[in-house]
Amino acid sequence: MQISFAPIEMPKDGAIVFLVEKDKPLEGLAAEADVLMAGALSKSIDTGRFTGASGQTLDILSPAGVSVDRVVVVGIGEKDKATEAEWAEIGAAVTSATAMTGSETVSVVVETADADVVSMAEGSLLRSYRFDKYRTKESESKKPTLKRVVFLTAKPQQNADLFASREKVSEGVFMTRDLVSEPANILHPESFAEEIRGLSSLGVDVEVLGEAEMTKLGMGALLGVGQGSAFESQLVIMRWNGAAKDDQPISFVGKGVTFDTGGISLKPGPGMEQMKWDMGGAGTVVGLMKALAGRKAKVNVVATVGLVENMPSSTAQRPGDVVTSMSGQTIEILNTDAEGRLVLADALWYTQDRFKPKFMIDLATLTGAIITSLGHEHAGLFSDSDELAEQITEAGTKTGDKVWRMPVHANYDKLIDCPTADMKNLGGPAAGSITAAQFLKRFANEVPWVHLDIAGTVWSEKDLPLSEKGGTGFGVRLLDRFVADNCES
Ligand code: BES
Ligand code: MN
Ligand code: ZN
Repeated sequence: MQISFAPIEMPKDGAIVFLVEKDKPLEGLAAEADVLMAGALSKSIDTGRFTGASGQTLDILSPAGVSVDRVVVVGIGEKDKATEAEWAEIGAAVTSATAMTGSETVSVVVETADADVVSMAEGSLLRSYRFDKYRTKESESKKPTLKRVVFLTAKPQQNADLFASREKVSEGVFMTRDLVSEPANILHPESFAEEIRGLSSLGVDVEVLGEAEMTKLGMGALLGVGQGSAFESQLVIMRWNGAAKDDQPISFVGKGVTFDTGGISLKPGPGMEQMKWDMGGAGTVVGLMKALAGRKAKVNVVATVGLVENMPSSTAQRPGDVVTSMSGQTIEILNTDAEGRLVLADALWYTQDRFKPKFMIDLATLTGAIITSLGHEHAGLFSDSDELAEQITEAGTKTGDKVWRMPVHANYDKLIDCPTADMKNLGGPAAGSITAAQFLKRFANEVPWVHLDIAGTVWSEKDLPLSEKGGTGFGVRLLDRFVADNCES
């Protein structure tokens, strides 16, 4: 779908959307249109019990007096109180209210601050995404008709300039949604690595390590997880250099389990298909790199993703196995389904060892327990840095990709100590998300570190304000904003 900006005037065709505040009279172009329509707009508002409450919509088909096919009124509540995240949701509501109606072009009259216009446009674009490449028999009548949303504003050129970088970020979000939506027979460690190589066209430097190289580096933790799979495990390193050469990089690390059966500690059958999106951490990191490179962010970034498939087979690792990680620390495997932390252990250690970053932020669909704690609203944030935790929390409030801080504390650390090896990969029944985070911390080697457990937020079983049922792209806009506000030169 295409977004554009144009001066405020009545369009000749397509649909027109007016935004109406709660309990406020029609203003500007809406009031003029009402006159042309001989009061049909205000009459419909009165008889349709439309109050302008946020999210309310009202449709008038082939109205007399104007040449557009359709007039849509969208309630926006109290304009002065709307936050940036709410403006994006209002923009998204325009898309969802008009996508299927038969109109190809929708013009939206927006008489509000520039920043709000751009947030609306972003929400509108984000809500247009659909993963339908495998629906070969879908009838035309079920496909969206909407092709263009035109925002009619006082400063179209300024809006377009500001929107240009947001559009690049949305492309990153779409890449993440594509990746998490792909089934695991199509997106496996080898094809995922190939997909990432495509980022080099944006100026991202991509390097892929296979099993031979990882064996040389001593990555026994990551390799153990992938050893039951017919696909070769991969570690992919992406670098975007948008700042001075000697600027210390920031870094992101992603869990990329392209399918998590649980391994020998096999998961139960029902719902197992969901584990195709257990690569969501890596998918988010890759989409984020696309966003940062796309908008030419002035920062040096290193991103590492560990890509493995967790399968049961005669070569799979067993409960009771002891593996040696690249850091030298040994791990007793008590449950082969607690595999994400093993992948991240080596990816984190490698990232700090080779690149000496300012900080590391890892993303992972790490635990079911984070869904028990926070549901699908907030991702869990764990960190030993108050500063980073606050900056990311604030970026979450602004973008709507919300995070909630959870504790990290030495007392939880004891729960993963173990007599057989340096640690075990399982903490026991209590505080499952926290013990997983404590495990990761042991591989950050004192580098300031943030862990985002996104198991509850990368996928949604129902439509959300900014996305249809399916991959959400959670985290791309969050971290793009965190970088823009705190890390760019
Ligand atoms: N990928 C799962 C976590 C997960 C579960 C994500 C449900 C999304 C929905 C992870 O690898 C896992 O299996 N974690 C186990 C850990 C346990 C064995 C300590 C879990 O959460 O049950
Ligand atoms: Mn698992
Ligand atoms: Zn997993």
